[in-house]
Amino acid sequence: MVEQSLEFCNIVKSFPGVKALKGISFRAEGGRICALMGENGAGKSTLLKILSGDIQPDEGCLKINGEEHHFLSPHQSIKSSVSVIYQERQLVPSLSVMENIFLEDMPVGKLGFINMTELRSKTQEILDTFGLPIAPTDTVGWLSVAYQQMVEIMKAYRRDSNIIAFDEPTAPLTDKEITILFSLIKKLKEKGKVILYVSHRMAEIFQISDDIVVLKDGSLVKTLLTSQTNEGELVKAMVGRDIGDTYANLKRNDKIGDVLLEVNNLVTDYVDNVSFKLHKGEVLGFAGLIGAGRTEVMRAIFGADPIRSGEIRLEGKPVRFKSPSEAVASGIALCPEDRKEQGLVLKRSITDNVSIPVLSKVKKGLFLSRKTENDMAMNAVRKYSIKTPSADKQVMQLSGGNQQKVILGRWTSEKMATKILILDEPTKGIDVGTKAEVYQMVCDFAKQGIGVIFISSELTEVLNVCDNIIVMHNRHITGMLTREEATEELVLQLAMKD
Ligand SMILES: Nc1ncnc2c1ncn2[C@@H]1O[C@H](COP(=O)(O)OP(=O)(O)OP(=O)(O)O)[C@@H](O)[C@H]1O
Ligand SMILES: [Mg+2]
Repeated sequence: MVEQSLEFCNIVKSFPGVKALKGISFRAEGGRICALMGENGAGKSTLLKILSGDIQPDEGCLKINGEEHHFLSPHQSIKSSVSVIYQERQLVPSLSVMENIFLEDMPVGKLGFINMTELRSKTQEILDTFGLPIAPTDTVGWLSVAYQQMVEIMKAYRRDSNIIAFDEPTAPLTDKEITILFSLIKKLKEKGKVILYVSHRMAEIFQISDDIVVLKDGSLVKTLLTSQTNEGELVKAMVGRDIGDTYANLKRNDKIGDVLLEVNNLVTDYVDNVSFKLHKGEVLGFAGLIGAGRTEVMRAIFGADPIRSGEIRLEGKPVRFKSPSEAVASGIALCPEDRKEQGLVLKRSITDNVSIPVLSKVKKGLFLSRKTENDMAMNAVRKYSIKTPSADKQVMQLSGGNQQKVILGRWTSEKMATKILILDEPTKGIDVGTKAEVYQMVCDFAKQGIGVIFISSELTEVLNVCDNIIVMHNRHITGMLTREEATEELVLQLAMKD
């Protein structure tokens, strides 16, 4: 077996207004997992896009097994045995699993027709290797995000790529799916592949990587051996300072008030018999596996999905919102999980995106001046340290984590007069330094008497940030715990209980 290696040689890349990569050089070896870490906007995804041929560097080159490469297209990258698995899915949703996996290489029969039997059996073989409970004929668009991602990995596996890069692969996955993913990545490692791995989750990095490359503002600041470093040192390299113990330093609200929201026996097409209470100043966590129905409960309350039966009371009065704008008008803000589909207008500026829900609240005759809008946007940029040269920049051009921060900025603007703030996976893709700021912001909202619902699949954050925790499984609530009672084991048990 040839020893595989991948080298980035002095890679420079500028976008209008930012130098995203300022001369990055490092070498990743086959049979090792190299983690790429750094704050939002540090340049991680840009580096992977250069590797995948989606964009070209201004200077520098790649060397694969010592041989120089300049990828002018994704096709050239794939042909050189590289697969990059992005945060954004690159599948064709209307096609089946098998068609997606073999998209570039359909088995063709004598008459030029695609050999469906062969396609199906070859796909089944791959699915079996990894023990995935999906069928070759399933339509990809109908699969959960987690399985869609697995299909992408299968695709890389099928191509037998020697270099495989993952950009925040676990963000949409549950613990169980992460275990499957990791065993899969380890299999690829054993086969001697070069693996690059981008993630903001510390625990994962220590679990899976051999080497760590830290980027900051487009420069390489440190390379570390995972076995010879620790979280503190790593965070310091990323952020440039000590941030201390995030959770211990949280200043929480200690005065929980009256009932603000009461949900009784809520039934929709997606959830069964859900009842709970949210109090003023309370941070109420919703834990559970992905697909447990947490997002769906919130969508129903928010007027985004129809309600079949049950009752919702806001400050004692029965309410039933027919649309999200009615909910917003009553002081409910929902910061959605999927920033692409539900959250952002990618082609518009940060300013426009931050002020959209406020605009919809403005009644006839009143309007926000451009200045107020700009101030709101600049506040968000400062509060969440959104990395951008100006608030006029298109959201599309921000890094993944910085897009998430724009959504947070939108729903947490002071102009919103929010009573209830629903945050669905708010820290997805956000770097460690900013995560601490998000947690403090959640507590600050609670201190103002706002009821906060905090949905998260990262157990540690739910356990440490929330006052009370509701656990859901399979469309209904399986338990409710106070912060004092809750442990990781208890929550997991409830998350799998029927
Ligand atoms: N197409 C683009 N146009 C303009 N600027 C861009 C574009 N793509 C990336 N950038 C900028 O390049 C910088 C690096 O972005 P990149 O996406 O590589 O960050 P990242 O390290 O992946 O961050 P995150 O952890 O948030 O995903 C950011 O300042 C970003 O705004
Ligand atoms: Mg990124």
